[in-house]
Amino acid sequence: MKVMVVGGGGREHAIIRKLKENSKITELYCLPGNGGIAADAVCINIGAKDIDGIVNFAKEKKIDFAVVAPDDPLVLGCVDRLNDIGVRCFGPRACAAIIEGSKVFSKNLMKKYGIPTADYEVFDNPEKALKYLENCKIPVVVKADGLALGKGVTVAETREQAKDAVREIMEDKVFGESGNNIVIEEFLTGPEVSVLAFTDGKTIKPMVSSMDHKRALDGDKGPNTGGMGTVAPNPYYTPEVAKECMERIFLPTVDAMNREGRTFKGCLYFGLMLTPDGAKVIEYNCRFGDPETQVVLPLLKSDLLTVMEAVCDGALDKTEVEFDTGAACCVILASDGYPKKYQTGYPLTLPARSKGREVFVAGAKTEDGVLKTSGGRVVGATATAPTLAEAVKAAYALSDEISFENAYKRNDIGAKALDILNL
Ligand code: AMP
Ligand code: GLY
Repeated sequence: MKVMVVGGGGREHAIIRKLKENSKITELYCLPGNGGIAADAVCINIGAKDIDGIVNFAKEKKIDFAVVAPDDPLVLGCVDRLNDIGVRCFGPRACAAIIEGSKVFSKNLMKKYGIPTADYEVFDNPEKALKYLENCKIPVVVKADGLALGKGVTVAETREQAKDAVREIMEDKVFGESGNNIVIEEFLTGPEVSVLAFTDGKTIKPMVSSMDHKRALDGDKGPNTGGMGTVAPNPYYTPEVAKECMERIFLPTVDAMNREGRTFKGCLYFGLMLTPDGAKVIEYNCRFGDPETQVVLPLLKSDLLTVMEAVCDGALDKTEVEFDTGAACCVILASDGYPKKYQTGYPLTLPARSKGREVFVAGAKTEDGVLKTSGGRVVGATATAPTLAEAVKAAYALSDEISFENAYKRNDIGAKALDILNL
């Protein structure tokens, strides 16, 4: 079986490692992949937004099954185009990927179907938005409607900050067309939980929960990043909370998308906040999260390709999705300065893989036979173990074996989760 994965970060590396456990796969490609992924799959230099290039490659190679991992190609209709030429895919079609592609769509969906989320207003014009900000409650959250590389959200502590965000998004168009509309929403409080779930549009099977660490600095300080580390499971996500989320959020979302004629098939990501009034949706993503995937998939006991094919074929009800009862921790090593200015091009050494230890490469390329850093997030050091305390210790020990000039990591990934477990 010939399989291709679209994307080229740590998430795609984790997907590829897991897919490789299935011996049915005879050829495995990653588009574009990266210098680290090249050790596990054939990397082809076609960008994840080059839909024509991806479709032509699939046709030429007679690809049997494709996994489209990042948001951009999903929102651009990569799955629709691949299906049109007969390639089976894991991932939603564009009409369903809009659940991430437009916050106005997802907020209106939740309101229409009574799915708990923050109260909000939508604006298509900056004057009205700025006027609204004169009297609304503070803090307040300003969100660009469309995709914005994870940077479209401002949690504003003051009216001025909120107004600046509106001006940047709607007048300066820092996120381009993504800022034609904005959502201004109520500030919620409570612990955050990420839940990724497989769904074929009929059945939904949540994966083990996880906790991201989005801020750049220890103690959840500094700017928001793509994620500096993750742990799974998330100790806030008790069986009671899981039950509440299934009944009030997960099943209603699958149902709502069906009723809208936008059946979602693939990985649906629920960014949740456990507020004093119950669990609420902060955001939906139409894909696996990164770095959440780097802790969730190493704990998956079932065969990933089998599950992905079942999602594609509408047979998830008959397919087992089982997770290890242990824990995982991923520590991201980034280029110092990320998410702002940083330098790349430094040689990188990676330790050998062994049981319970995985290094997923996010930003590296090979130059003159030498692996060098090429991105903000460079690698994820993941360890699995029977307990979270052991997993955190082992992930840090693994991260200490990875060296490159300018490496930066947080030193407190998992600390909050361990505190809760010890309460
Ligand atoms: P997002 O890019 O949508 O994941 O948002 C980034 C972060 O902003 C989230 O992880 C939350 O910490 C925070 N956030 C987003 N919406 C809200 C909200 N309504 N209330 C409080 N914090 C929020
Ligand atoms: N880690 C958050 C995301 O993938 O959007």
